[in-house]
Amino acid sequence: MNTTATLMDGKAVAQRVLDTCAQRVQHIKQQTGVKPCLATVLVGDDPASVTYTRMKRKRCEAVGMQSRKVELPTETTTEQLVAAISELGNDASVHGVLLQHPSPPHVDERAAFEAIPAIKDVDGVTIHSFGAIALGVKGSGYDCCTPGGIMRLLKAYEVDPTGMHAVVVGRSPILGKPMAMMLLAANATVTICHSKTKELPTLVEQGDIVVAAVGRPEFVKGDWIKPGAIVIDAGYNEGNVGDVEFDAAAEKASMITPVPGGVGPMTIATLIDQTSIGAARQLGLDLE
Ligand SMILES: NC(=O)c1ccc[n+]([C@@H]2O[C@H](COP(=O)([O-])OP(=O)(O)OC[C@H]3O[C@@H](n4cnc5c(N)ncnc54)[C@H](OP(=O)(O)O)[C@@H]3O)[C@@H](O)[C@H]2O)c1
Repeated sequence: MNTTATLMDGKAVAQRVLDTCAQRVQHIKQQTGVKPCLATVLVGDDPASVTYTRMKRKRCEAVGMQSRKVELPTETTTEQLVAAISELGNDASVHGVLLQHPSPPHVDERAAFEAIPAIKDVDGVTIHSFGAIALGVKGSGYDCCTPGGIMRLLKAYEVDPTGMHAVVVGRSPILGKPMAMMLLAANATVTICHSKTKELPTLVEQGDIVVAAVGRPEFVKGDWIKPGAIVIDAGYNEGNVGDVEFDAAAEKASMITPVPGGVGPMTIATLIDQTSIGAARQLGLDLE
């Protein structure tokens, strides 16, 4: 690889977020005697999802919080899932509830997400959290974790999106759409692309910031990247491959995220951080 692009080290930045979070958790425990707790809910046994939820619980414990594992069989109905999530919602010892995406296809995932009380939606997946992001309401709801983690990474590398043209490829409710809203809130001019977009390469070529959130290995080609662009690869496909043709893109970009070690660790760190913030909110602690 022959690149001059700065590698955006999500692992290192995530560790700094987790270190600060551990101090906050310590403060919460000293002030209230309560150990913040994240509940992870997994439906089915998809190996990648099993790994992700395990990693999330591990990070949780590494900063001094508790985690609770709820695993439900693949055939769980929407009603049963909603009931399990509601129970966690009503449990005062649980401060954050995460439903691992994707749920099996027969489940109405939106209904399940909406069963998470807004104050415990530390993964930022409810309509409430999305609305808060879209309307720029601070202190209500939580950032959706992957785009929230990307914004933290941009900040850590002193990237101010103001006036930049950001091109987001993908419009899923948990990634592309909230990403576009956050970049808009940060004063970028935003183009959102999806499977029906025409002349995608021409649009990507205009991006000062390009976010790839498609779910197809090396979908965004290196020769679509404008020289000097900042390339964020949110994709994570089999074989540790992202959604961007990394080597070719790195030759054009000024900054680029690696896969793995870029966006993934930032997603988890954001979740853990927001769980501690959620616990503080629920326990009436003022962290400002
Ligand atoms: N690192 C992390 O923490 C993390 C977290 C979540 C997801 N991810 C990864 O991010 C990627 C996207 O995840 P997701 O959940 O957002 O996926 P998704 O729900 O499948 O959404 C994919 C998006 O890509 C668009 N798309 C598909 N084919 C396209 C094409 N030919 N041209 C332009 N756009 C196209 C789709 O458009 P339509 O809307 O028109 O169908 C859709 O909006 C995956 O690789 C996933 O593993 C990583």
